[in-house]
Amino acid sequence: MNLILMGPPGAGKGTQARRIAETYGVPQLSTGDMLRAAVKAGTEVGKKAKVAMDSGGLVTDDIVVGIIADRIGEADCAQGFILDGFPRTVAQAKSLDAMLAERGLKIDHVIDITADTEALVSRITGRSTCAKCGEGYHVEHKKPAAAGVCDKCGGTLTTRADDNEETVRNRLAVYHQQTAPVIDHYRHGGQFRAVDGMEQMDTVFTKLCAILG
Ligand code: AP5
Repeated sequence: MNLILMGPPGAGKGTQARRIAETYGVPQLSTGDMLRAAVKAGTEVGKKAKVAMDSGGLVTDDIVVGIIADRIGEADCAQGFILDGFPRTVAQAKSLDAMLAERGLKIDHVIDITADTEALVSRITGRSTCAKCGEGYHVEHKKPAAAGVCDKCGGTLTTRADDNEETVRNRLAVYHQQTAPVIDHYRHGGQFRAVDGMEQMDTVFTKLCAILG
């Protein structure tokens, strides 16, 4: 199962990708997580990515395409993968088509999770994430049992540097300018579906599973 999860920042791509990965046993490939790991490790890629990420802009296509090309060649992707946050430009989508064709692979599902802009700002500015296992939380919609501590693994909850309101609004503007056109790239293929991300997390997950089968 090769799946692309699309949607604006805060739509729930990461939340749902983690649940799908657990349920279907295929890895979640989040370019955002991979870039944040590179920034933290201080690699050359991380240094180049940091400036764009801090402002809410996009990292260059060559960097993210290179990361994904390497990652989908790894053994755990043999049974499928979930792309979370990639492709984000039409150029990235075309590069993905080419790299999959070269390997005799194809995308089975492209699912766009939709949501209202103001809800997205509130979701992102209220979000925290476990530094150990990556589980996501929210001050209103998904509170941990003990403040600052992950329910699943006991790890410490952290907030992202780009989750302030100014950067979030820029990320949303960039999404509308550069990522929304990617939907048209896939819309006419039989594998495209949209799911309402304003519903409860469990409802969204049930609908995604109904599509994936
Ligand atoms: P990335 O890490 O991909 O961030 P994003 O797309 O901005 O998406 P988010 O992770 O903020 O949101 P999400 O949709 O995963 O929502 P989540 O599930 O966490 O990218 C970060 C940066 O990296 C980019 O700005 C760019 O610079 C760079 N980058 C990454 N990929 C790139 C690429 N391909 N090309 C170039 N640059 C790239 O949910 C959000 C919150 O809402 C959580 O608190 C959650 O608990 C809550 N929530 C989720 N679902 C619901 C629901 N149904 N109801 C209520 N609350 C909900």
